[in-house]
Amino acid sequence: MKILGIETSCDDTAVSVYDSEEGLLSNIVSSQIKMHEEWGGVYPDLAAREHTKNIIPVLDRALKDASIDIKDIDGIAVTVAPGLIVSLVIGISVAKTLSWIYRKPLIPVHHIEAHIFASFITEKIDYPFIALVVSGGHTELYLIKGFEDYRYLGGTLDDAVGEAYDKVARMLGLGYPGGPVIDRLSKEGRDIVKLPRPLINDRGKNRFNFSFSGLKTAVLREIQKGIYRKEDIARSFQEAATDVLLAKTIDAMKEFNIKNVVIAGGVSANSRLREKFKEAEENHGIKAYFPPLYLCTDNGAMVAYTGYKRFRESGTTVDYSFEGKARLRMDKFIEIIRKSSVSS
Ligand code: KG4
Ligand code: ZN
Repeated sequence: MKILGIETSCDDTAVSVYDSEEGLLSNIVSSQIKMHEEWGGVYPDLAAREHTKNIIPVLDRALKDASIDIKDIDGIAVTVAPGLIVSLVIGISVAKTLSWIYRKPLIPVHHIEAHIFASFITEKIDYPFIALVVSGGHTELYLIKGFEDYRYLGGTLDDAVGEAYDKVARMLGLGYPGGPVIDRLSKEGRDIVKLPRPLINDRGKNRFNFSFSGLKTAVLREIQKGIYRKEDIARSFQEAATDVLLAKTIDAMKEFNIKNVVIAGGVSANSRLREKFKEAEENHGIKAYFPPLYLCTDNGAMVAYTGYKRFRESGTTVDYSFEGKARLRMDKFIEIIRKSSVSS
């Protein structure tokens, strides 16, 4: 079975073909990083305009790389939520059009779900597991009992961790996106700047929630003192952020007696986060799964693969009235697609 996957939820235009027999046949990502650099973040109108310009060439390249005619595709998977609505609707419109012209099933995919299941492309992972989702727009913990069986445990009360990386990088004049630069720079720095670890020991209602805006403000205050090197600020920030991510995930794993964890989203590329989870495998007897680096940030492969899983496991497909949503939790998404499925 061959599934086409389309992803336009933020600033990357991405299309991929996944084949259940042969694996990934193509994976094309057109990044808009250069365009958004001068804004220090994603500028929605610009993102939408770029998607409109790039989507057809990216689709064409993905089909050519896969050496496949669109008529031989078995289904069209597309990210329908969450994300920038002006960006989402471009991928959704293209997917609906292709589905209509070529009479192919339309398979809805949730962006976070796609990030989580990206690891399944290269590894066999047993349920249940905890998913730590860390990206530019999300910092969330889920208990995943099976495919389409998701329980939300908590999320950020303010900034996402990737957003905090991007903002700290901007404050240090390091450019966008900030994650990879801070990750690199912090290798030359020392953890000497005292920074808070927000909510790390909370055992009340915020036990599985996160907060990164206080950490970001604390970093700003330290920068303004003008006494620390950028490398040391970067390192200290990275230590604080990854300490919180690790501690809360381990706490959730203990609470629900879960041995496996899948770390997903752009920040899962972070080298220090990977090191800390490796150490935790020894210290806590857990197993941590990270996607390969090329599947960490936004891509079409994760959408094509998750779409394939959906089509095979639940057969849920939607019709042309289905709408994208800027905000939608993964557990709620499953409720919605089940209700609107055309095959059930
Ligand atoms: O998943 P993604 O590509 O897009 C969203 O869905 O948000 O994640 C992008 C985020 C950005 O905030 C970027 O700074 C961060 O992932 N990121 C990293 C690293 N690589 C990308 N953060 C920390 N360390 C990295 N190595
Ligand atoms: Zn993402």
